[in-house]
Amino acid sequence: MNDASSTDNSLLSLLDHARQAALHAYAPYSGFRVGAALRLTNGEIVTGTNVENVSYGLTICAERSALVRAVSQFGPDIRIEAVAVANLNTAASPPCGACRQVLSEFILPDAPVVFPAAGGDRTMTFSELLPLSFEMKLK
Ligand code: THU
Repeated sequence: MNDASSTDNSLLSLLDHARQAALHAYAPYSGFRVGAALRLTNGEIVTGTNVENVSYGLTICAERSALVRAVSQFGPDIRIEAVAVANLNTAASPPCGACRQVLSEFILPDAPVVFPAAGGDRTMTFSELLPLSFEMKLK
Protein backbone atom coordinates (compact mmCIF):
# COMPACT_ATOMS: atom_id res chain seq x y z
CA MET A 1 0.00 0.00 0.00
CA ASN A 2 2.61 2.57 1.07
CA ASP A 3 5.64 3.19 3.23
CA ALA A 4 6.23 5.09 6.45
CA SER A 5 6.70 8.43 4.69
CA SER A 6 3.06 8.43 3.64
CA THR A 7 1.59 6.84 6.75
CA ASP A 8 -1.31 9.15 7.62
CA ASN A 9 -1.70 10.82 11.01
CA SER A 10 -4.42 8.50 12.27
CA LEU A 11 -2.20 5.49 11.61
CA LEU A 12 0.77 7.22 13.23
CA SER A 13 -1.35 7.79 16.31
CA LEU A 14 -2.46 4.14 16.26
CA LEU A 15 1.23 3.16 16.09
CA ASP A 16 1.83 5.21 19.24
CA HIS A 17 -0.86 3.19 21.00
CA ALA A 18 0.80 -0.03 19.81
CA ARG A 19 4.19 1.13 21.10
CA GLN A 20 2.70 2.02 24.47
CA ALA A 21 1.06 -1.40 24.65
CA ALA A 22 4.39 -3.10 23.94
CA LEU A 23 5.70 -1.66 27.19
CA HIS A 24 3.36 -4.08 28.97
CA ALA A 25 4.62 -7.17 27.13
CA TYR A 26 5.18 -10.32 29.12
CA ALA A 27 8.03 -11.78 27.08
CA PRO A 28 10.54 -13.35 29.49
CA TYR A 29 11.38 -16.21 27.09
CA SER A 30 11.93 -14.43 23.77
CA GLY A 31 12.62 -10.91 24.98
CA PHE A 32 10.57 -9.80 21.94
CA ARG A 33 8.09 -7.16 23.12
CA VAL A 34 5.17 -6.57 20.80
CA GLY A 35 2.16 -4.26 21.00
CA ALA A 36 -0.91 -4.08 18.77
CA ALA A 37 -3.62 -1.46 18.49
CA LEU A 38 -6.95 -1.94 16.74
CA ARG A 39 -9.19 0.92 15.67
CA LEU A 40 -12.80 -0.20 15.59
CA THR A 41 -15.57 1.23 13.41
CA ASN A 42 -17.25 2.45 16.63
CA GLY A 43 -14.23 4.77 17.09
CA GLU A 44 -12.71 2.83 19.98
CA ILE A 45 -9.04 1.90 20.12
CA VAL A 46 -8.16 -1.38 21.80
CA THR A 47 -4.61 -2.49 22.49
CA GLY A 48 -2.94 -5.76 23.33
CA THR A 49 0.48 -7.17 24.01
CA ASN A 50 2.13 -10.55 23.75
CA VAL A 51 1.75 -12.78 26.79
CA GLU A 52 4.23 -15.64 26.75
CA ASN A 53 4.11 -18.93 28.59
CA VAL A 54 6.84 -21.30 29.66
CA SER A 55 5.23 -23.98 27.50
CA TYR A 56 5.99 -21.63 24.54
CA GLY A 57 3.10 -22.97 22.45
CA LEU A 58 0.53 -21.30 24.70
CA THR A 59 1.98 -17.86 24.02
CA ILE A 60 -0.57 -15.31 22.85
CA CYS A 61 0.54 -12.72 20.30
CA ALA A 62 -0.17 -9.01 20.73
CA GLU A 63 -2.64 -8.93 17.82
CA ARG A 64 -4.79 -11.77 19.16
CA SER A 65 -4.62 -10.40 22.65
CA ALA A 66 -6.01 -7.06 21.37
CA LEU A 67 -8.70 -8.83 19.35
CA VAL A 68 -9.88 -10.93 22.30
CA ARG A 69 -9.96 -7.83 24.45
CA ALA A 70 -11.98 -5.91 21.82
CA VAL A 71 -14.63 -8.64 21.53
CA SER A 72 -14.78 -9.01 25.30
CA GLN A 73 -15.29 -5.26 25.78
CA PHE A 74 -17.55 -4.42 22.85
CA GLY A 75 -19.15 -7.69 21.78
CA PRO A 76 -19.13 -9.92 18.71
CA ASP A 77 -20.35 -7.31 16.22
CA ILE A 78 -17.18 -5.22 16.30
CA ARG A 79 -15.46 -4.40 13.04
CA ILE A 80 -11.79 -3.45 12.84
CA GLU A 81 -10.97 -0.60 10.45
CA ALA A 82 -7.23 -0.25 11.10
CA VAL A 83 -4.41 -2.15 12.84
CA ALA A 84 -0.99 -1.05 14.05
CA VAL A 85 1.76 -3.38 15.28
CA ALA A 86 4.97 -2.26 16.97
CA ASN A 87 7.81 -3.90 18.84
CA LEU A 88 10.51 -2.60 21.14
CA ASN A 89 13.25 -4.63 19.44
CA THR A 90 13.78 -2.59 16.28
CA ALA A 91 12.99 -5.69 14.26
CA ALA A 92 10.52 -6.53 11.51
CA SER A 93 7.28 -8.04 12.81
CA PRO A 94 4.41 -8.41 10.41
CA PRO A 95 1.42 -10.15 12.03
CA CYS A 96 1.93 -13.92 12.11
CA GLY A 97 -0.26 -16.23 10.05
CA ALA A 98 -2.35 -17.35 13.03
CA CYS A 99 -3.13 -13.73 13.93
CA ARG A 100 -4.08 -12.91 10.35
CA GLN A 101 -6.55 -15.78 10.29
CA VAL A 102 -8.09 -14.76 13.63
CA LEU A 103 -8.31 -11.08 12.61
CA SER A 104 -10.00 -12.07 9.34
CA GLU A 105 -13.34 -12.73 11.08
CA PHE A 106 -13.59 -9.16 12.38
CA ILE A 107 -11.63 -6.92 10.04
CA LEU A 108 -12.68 -4.96 6.95
CA PRO A 109 -10.80 -6.26 3.88
CA ASP A 110 -9.54 -2.77 3.03
CA ALA A 111 -8.39 -2.00 6.58
CA PRO A 112 -4.81 -0.71 6.61
CA VAL A 113 -2.35 -2.72 8.69
CA VAL A 114 0.87 -0.94 9.61
CA PHE A 115 3.76 -2.99 10.97
CA PRO A 116 7.54 -2.85 11.32
CA ALA A 117 9.20 -4.23 8.19
CA ALA A 118 12.77 -4.29 6.92
CA GLY A 119 13.56 -0.65 6.19
CA GLY A 120 10.83 0.87 8.35
CA ASP A 121 7.10 0.76 8.97
CA ARG A 122 5.04 -0.62 6.14
CA THR A 123 1.31 -0.41 5.46
CA MET A 124 -0.71 -3.00 3.56
CA THR A 125 -4.44 -3.63 3.38
CA PHE A 126 -5.63 -6.67 5.27
CA SER A 127 -6.65 -8.46 2.06
CA GLU A 128 -3.12 -7.97 0.71
CA LEU A 129 -1.76 -9.56 3.89
CA LEU A 130 -4.16 -12.49 3.82
CA PRO A 131 -5.65 -13.00 0.37
CA LEU A 132 -7.17 -16.44 0.99
CA SER A 133 -8.38 -16.75 4.55
CA PHE A 134 -10.13 -19.97 5.46
CA GLU A 135 -13.91 -19.66 5.46
CA MET A 136 -16.33 -22.46 6.23
CA LYS A 137 -19.17 -22.63 3.73
CA LEU A 138 -21.29 -25.72 4.24
CA LYS A 139 -22.99 -27.07 1.13
N1 THU B 1 4.58 -12.19 18.43
C1 THU B 1 3.51 -11.33 18.44
O1 THU B 1 3.11 -10.84 19.50
N2 THU B 1 2.91 -11.04 17.25
C2 THU B 1 3.27 -11.57 16.05
O2 THU B 1 2.61 -11.35 15.05
C3 THU B 1 4.46 -12.41 15.96
C4 THU B 1 5.10 -12.80 17.22
C5 THU B 1 5.22 -12.53 19.70
C6 THU B 1 5.01 -13.93 20.15
C7 THU B 1 6.21 -14.17 21.03
O3 THU B 1 5.90 -13.74 22.35
C8 THU B 1 7.28 -13.27 20.45
O4 THU B 1 6.62 -12.37 19.59
C9 THU B 1 8.36 -14.00 19.68
O5 THU B 1 7.82 -14.82 18.73
